[in-house]
Amino acid sequence: MTVRFGIIGLGNRGYKYALRTIQKHQGAEIFMVCDTFGHHFHHFPQALTTNDYQEVLDHPEVDAIFIATPDDTHAEIILAAIKANKHILCEKPLEISDEKVTKIETALENYDKAFEVGYVLRYARTYSKVKELITSGIIGQVIMANVIDHVQYGGYAYFHDWHRTRQKSTSLLLQKATHSLDLINWYVNSRPEKVVAFGDLMVFGEVGAIEKFGKPVPDDLHCGNCPISDTCEESIQNLAKEKNIAWSEHWPDNCVFNSEVDVDDHQTVMIYYANKAKATYQLCQFAAFYKREFHFFGTKGELYFDDVSNTIVVTDRLKSETLTYQNNHQETNMEPGDEEQLQDFLDAIHTGKTPVSNLESSVLAGKLALAAQRSIDHETIEII
Ligand SMILES: NC(=O)c1ccc[n+]([C@@H]2O[C@H](COP(=O)([O-])OP(=O)(O)OC[C@H]3O[C@@H](n4cnc5c(N)ncnc54)[C@H](O)[C@@H]3O)[C@@H](O)[C@H]2O)c1
Repeated sequence: MTVRFGIIGLGNRGYKYALRTIQKHQGAEIFMVCDTFGHHFHHFPQALTTNDYQEVLDHPEVDAIFIATPDDTHAEIILAAIKANKHILCEKPLEISDEKVTKIETALENYDKAFEVGYVLRYARTYSKVKELITSGIIGQVIMANVIDHVQYGGYAYFHDWHRTRQKSTSLLLQKATHSLDLINWYVNSRPEKVVAFGDLMVFGEVGAIEKFGKPVPDDLHCGNCPISDTCEESIQNLAKEKNIAWSEHWPDNCVFNSEVDVDDHQTVMIYYANKAKATYQLCQFAAFYKREFHFFGTKGELYFDDVSNTIVVTDRLKSETLTYQNNHQETNMEPGDEEQLQDFLDAIHTGKTPVSNLESSVLAGKLALAAQRSIDHETIEII
């Protein structure tokens, strides 16, 4: 049976995932697309279009929806989609507050349609191989983990668009780090119980403006009207060039040094798990290069991998033997894990199986990130 999709939110993530992954799958069809501003409608000439997501939910021929709107809109759309009895694939994170995460969790109790969350790295080959290795017991029980997210270019868009205010995203721990926090939970295979964290805004926002210009920049400063955007290393044009991304007229270009920026640009987090495992996690938005690094210490050995070399190194503690696994798979124009994530969602629709990235795991990832930000704000150890 072909699953007919309604896509809600055709921004950076929504249109790419719809075009490159959903549209290409033989078992899926894009029946309707929805975006407040009509972004990227032209990519889907065969689909019905609307600016109102309720029209997607009301359409009897839409079987499943993909939600790729900003994080603070997910609860509202999920709750409406439950009423409309649709299968739901929602982008991560679930939502931006504990209250809204709990609301979603409660509303989905006993829901008999598929529900999956876009923690796509669980599906990417290197990451799923790590899960397979750890589950096989190759390094014994995981007792300690050390994970770093290096994000260069100010996280590209994190400080140019809605991600940069707490009102819209709460914390970049929830928006960006949530992938890695979810993976740590998955690999440690236990429930995070306590968290303590430190973080600050020291490079972007007003503090960065004072460092760079000696004073705050005007609130309405955009790269488009900025006299130094040609030379500014943070301008959206220069970042696009550096990252070899085609310039998009839709890409937000608010100055990263505007005073409204109030999310932290670096964080250090320590997590204690129910099975006594301990993890440290660091997110740096002003790193010199982009890399996710994971290091696990188990009772029988260590496992290290990163997503740049795509190499997993396992070292036996007693024999000092090292095994190396190299992922040489070349992704085409999909992001790693995109196709596998969609397949898991379609399988959940057809067979009723629980997806690999499911409600329970995404609630835990969200609550961990939210508790870590609370710990930063209140200088407390937070119980999750
Ligand atoms: N899994 C991943 O790797 C990944 C990558 C990027 C983004 N994301 C997630 O995808 C979601 C979207 O992020 P983005 O970067 O594409 O944001 P974006 O701002 O580029 O796009 C959001 C789109 O949603 C539209 N929109 C907003 N409110 C709407 C509403 N009520 N109804 C219909 N359309 C609406 C906007 O017009 C915009 O086009 C976020 O939750 C983000 O966390 C996930």
